Amino acid sequence: MPVSRELQLPSGDKIPTVGLGTWTVWQGAEGEIYRAVKEAIKVGYRHIDCAWFYKNQGEVGQAIKESIEEGTIKREDLFVTTKVWNTAHRRDAVKENLKQSLSQLGLSYVNLLLVHYPISFKDGDDPYPKDNDGNIIFAYHDIVDTWKGMEDCIDADLTRNIGLSNFNHLQVQRIIDASRIRPSVIQLEVNPLLSNTQLVEYCQKRDIGVTAYAPLGFPNRSWKKKGEPDLLEEPVVKQLASAKGKTPAQIVLRCLLQRGLIIIPKSSSPARIKENLELFDTELSEDEMKQMAALDRNLRVYVDSISASHPEYPFNDF
Ligand SMILES: NC(=O)c1ccc[n+]([C@@H]2O[C@H](COP(=O)([O-])OP(=O)(O)OC[C@H]3O[C@@H](n4cnc5c(N)ncnc54)[C@H](OP(=O)(O)O)[C@@H]3O)[C@@H](O)[C@H]2O)c1
Repeated sequence: MPVSRELQLPSGDKIPTVGLGTWTVWQGAEGEIYRAVKEAIKVGYRHIDCAWFYKNQGEVGQAIKESIEEGTIKREDLFVTTKVWNTAHRRDAVKENLKQSLSQLGLSYVNLLLVHYPISFKDGDDPYPKDNDGNIIFAYHDIVDTWKGMEDCIDADLTRNIGLSNFNHLQVQRIIDASRIRPSVIQLEVNPLLSNTQLVEYCQKRDIGVTAYAPLGFPNRSWKKKGEPDLLEEPVVKQLASAKGKTPAQIVLRCLLQRGLIIIPKSSSPARIKENLELFDTELSEDEMKQMAALDRNLRVYVDSISASHPEYPFNDF
């Protein structure tokens, strides 16, 4: 199945199907994301996935600024996504949170703004506000009200598209039903160990582009439990890689593209940044796609257990 390098969104804008993830688990080493974004743009990435929560948008912005000044890209060539964090779900706080992101990124607009999670925390600058017992202080803003704040950001020309992240199908439907401007993209955890098929198809059928986060299953995550499968070591992935002269990561990423997904693998290594973009000269047959589909274990990397008691916790339904 041929795959496209870009998907058209309802706004008419095109989103590149391969982007660079920038979550380094609390900032990473200083300069890591600056160097990764600079390298990615140099080798042809035109889509960068960011978030207020990642606390590294200054580095992303610096890399974009220099790439534009050096003539590698123009702003209009680049698709930049950011996300509104849980502490800014009041309708008027959404725009303020986006303005902070824009100031960090050094941009006047982003291409896509997502609601990072459907769960809200107490408003403010602390991303994890806690009480004296160390419990997260929840807030209970209506997600529809938050969505109105997202629409306000389009009206203010601060973002070109708006969307969701980590919403389940019931929450997606509530937003669709109440929206003046529909969500154009949803970001979900998807990889062959967590195929998320029902929700992916639910969204795709409603003309919402689906971006797969943790597309490689975050293989080197520090919280990986003993005995959990390692996607890149799965025999079928290794066997397809060796048969096609590709790496295991490329097989996994190609498989996701063939499902019509947008992917945002994160890497800070120049070799792997390049590798993760070289996906358009190979193809998995229908039978090979079935072999990959059989890897599904419903294994979620980002469980977000601290929010499990919130009424909008999304992962108890598809
Ligand atoms: N919306 C959300 O709630 C949400 C949640 C999580 C993530 N995200 C977004 O999705 C992006 C990707 O997810 P993720 O970073 O969690 O996981 P991922 O992209 O599946 O995995 C990233 C890890 O894989 C390694 N890696 C990258 N390319 C590789 C390759 N070719 N071969 C072997 N290992 C490779 C990287 O190490 P090196 O850097 O050393 O290469 C990195 O540690 C994030 O960066 C973020 O932008 C969104």
